[in-house]
Amino acid sequence: MTRLVMRTRSKPYPVTIGGETQYMCGCGLSATQPFCDGTHKLTRDEEPGVLCWYDADVVRKQIADTFPNIRVPSE
Ligand code: FES
Repeated sequence: MTRLVMRTRSKPYPVTIGGETQYMCGCGLSATQPFCDGTHKLTRDEEPGVLCWYDADVVRKQIADTFPNIRVPSE
């Protein structure tokens, strides 16, 4: 099964448990989910309003049309 879920974050977010802070992936591209591995840096020059996706080699693709009303996780 495959899902298309829009991610709008472009950076990790810290979570502190037991006094230890971990950085969780917010962009969805990390190979070490749920933790950030720095791959979010590829999203820094994404154009606003353009839907981007990344292939298995983490190469960016862009889609001219959008998917109206696609679910966006709350941030
Ligand atoms: S936030 Fe996803 S790789 Fe860093």
